[in-house]
Amino acid sequence: MELTVAITGASGTIYAHRTLQLLAASGAVETINLIMSGTAATVAQVETGTNLREPTNEKINEWLGLSSDSKIIRFWRLDNFAAKPSSGSNKQAGMIIVPCSMGTLGSIASGSGTNLIHRAADVCLKEGRKLLLVPRETPFNAIHLENMLKLSRAGATILPASPGFYHRPETIDDLVDHLCFRILDQFDIPHSRRTQWTGEEVSDAE
Ligand SMILES: Cc1cc2nc3c(=O)[nH]c(=O)nc-3n(C[C@H](O)[C@H](O)[C@H](O)COP(=O)(O)O)c2cc1C
Repeated sequence: MELTVAITGASGTIYAHRTLQLLAASGAVETINLIMSGTAATVAQVETGTNLREPTNEKINEWLGLSSDSKIIRFWRLDNFAAKPSSGSNKQAGMIIVPCSMGTLGSIASGSGTNLIHRAADVCLKEGRKLLLVPRETPFNAIHLENMLKLSRAGATILPASPGFYHRPETIDDLVDHLCFRILDQFDIPHSRRTQWTGEEVSDAE
């Protein structure tokens, strides 16, 4: 399977990092086309101390703990409209935007995108491919909510960065994994399923 993953300047670099690691380790994904917005690097610096400015495939491999010659990630510059994900004729399973800022979400919802992330998302919608947005903002204003509804009606899946607690997380990594597993589930990509709910008898008795 070939996928596109975009990282934007919303809070939650850790979600992008883990999602990419899980996709790369899944055995189900051959190529990940990676795009990053300029602000994504700022947020990565603020939240994780990672320098993702002027990324290269090698730099990304190092960030993800992949071998330096790994070919699974293919990085594309934000201004490269000739990149693979820019054309509907390039067959792909779809696209994940994690985390997705309200800015990027609004640009896609308006249909008047100006960068490769917006274009690749637009391509997914017009080709009827899976477009998964992982928005992170709180609280949402009416414009954010309307944009999400518009995108949902256009065929996108909105999977907010809001992890559950029913699997009794003990660490931040547990919380992050829970959300990233839900992202992989959307593409039927295998993972450890450690946080999957399998049903439980819950008694009301005290
Ligand atoms: C540290 C930091 C955290 C941010 N967190 C969010 C956020 O959670 N959600 C959001 O929509 N924007 C957030 N922003 C603002 C976006 O980065 C900003 O709107 C930017 O223009 C988004 O551009 P992009 O979508 O091209 O990445 C944050 C910015 C910084 C520097």
